[in-house]
Amino acid sequence: MQLSNHHDLRPQDSLLVGDCRDLLQALPAASIAACITDPPYNYEFIGHKWDHAEIERRLDRAKTSSTLVKNIPYGSGLAGGVRNARWYEKNRKNILDYQEWCFSWGKEVFRVCKPGAMVAAFNSSRTMAHVQVALERAGFYARDCIVYRRSSGIPKGLNVSAKLEKLGDPNPEKWEGWHSCLRSEWEAIVVVQKPLENNYIDTLQKYDVGLFQAANEDGSFQSNILEGLPRGEAEDFNIHCTVKPLPLMLKLVGMMVPESSNNIVLDPFAGSGTTLVAAKQLGLAYLGMEINPAYAAIAKRRLGINETETKSTTGQQEMFQRAARAAP
Ligand SMILES: C[S@@+](CC[C@H](N)C(=O)[O-])C[C@H]1O[C@@H](n2cnc3c(N)ncnc32)[C@H](O)[C@@H]1O
Repeated sequence: MQLSNHHDLRPQDSLLVGDCRDLLQALPAASIAACITDPPYNYEFIGHKWDHAEIERRLDRAKTSSTLVKNIPYGSGLAGGVRNARWYEKNRKNILDYQEWCFSWGKEVFRVCKPGAMVAAFNSSRTMAHVQVALERAGFYARDCIVYRRSSGIPKGLNVSAKLEKLGDPNPEKWEGWHSCLRSEWEAIVVVQKPLENNYIDTLQKYDVGLFQAANEDGSFQSNILEGLPRGEAEDFNIHCTVKPLPLMLKLVGMMVPESSNNIVLDPFAGSGTTLVAAKQLGLAYLGMEINPAYAAIAKRRLGINETETKSTTGQQEMFQRAARAAP
């Protein structure tokens, strides 16, 4: 099945505002060519407010606290503090809740994907395993884990010798160089696929998806490490706190979604819309979802979607109706 009339979609129908778990339910089955997305990694925030103001509030609190590591939002599990049984229990519960939350949207993504469709989900090196397990539970099977190698910041965590010196330890230099974490230099991109129909050829011929574009411009074969990509500049109106570089998203969309009028790229956690901007630049149809209206407005501006035409949900309802008519 394909959304045969998706070219009738007006641009303002392509970015839906709301919880993707509700919005996805209104989409027809087997209509999406790929889901390329960057869900919130900070699993402690799931079920809590996850917006710019809240992140800023948490960062502000870290700045004035003597016990929290600077620039790490409290609740992120990265900062120092007491590690008692309760902390580990809470941490375990948080990550399992995060896995359930990923399953709750993953099962809807599975339903709307065409056979052979790829899902690429960004995540941190600490939490990616849970995203993969959730997506496998939803019905996908694991294909790869792409490493996005980026420039790293200053390591966050505990510098033990500095801390011991501050505490008046007589021999802090004994622990020189020992630290509570490593320098974080990569992000994980979990890659899973909806089962093929029979084999690659049948799936490709029927659904226009199922394979990777592995031929690089320089003649090399695409590896599963993405590095050396320029960061790109975010527009000054884009105040989203975790904007992905556009060159990275162009690369990923280009690797996973063949050019075809039957192919729609989905990003259920659109943020400021970088995946969608990449799909648009590559001439592909796209559908984004974003829970925060302020971020959705930024994405619409980047996509050239006229805000005044999107005030009502009429456009969205029409799209769902059209999509439903196209369902098998
Ligand atoms: C990591 S950001 C994505 C940033 C994006 N890649 C960009 O370049 O701007 C994740 C986004 O998911 C949104 N979000 C969180 N929960 C959501 C939900 N249940 N449905 C839709 N969007 C959600 C957040 O508001 C946030 O903007």
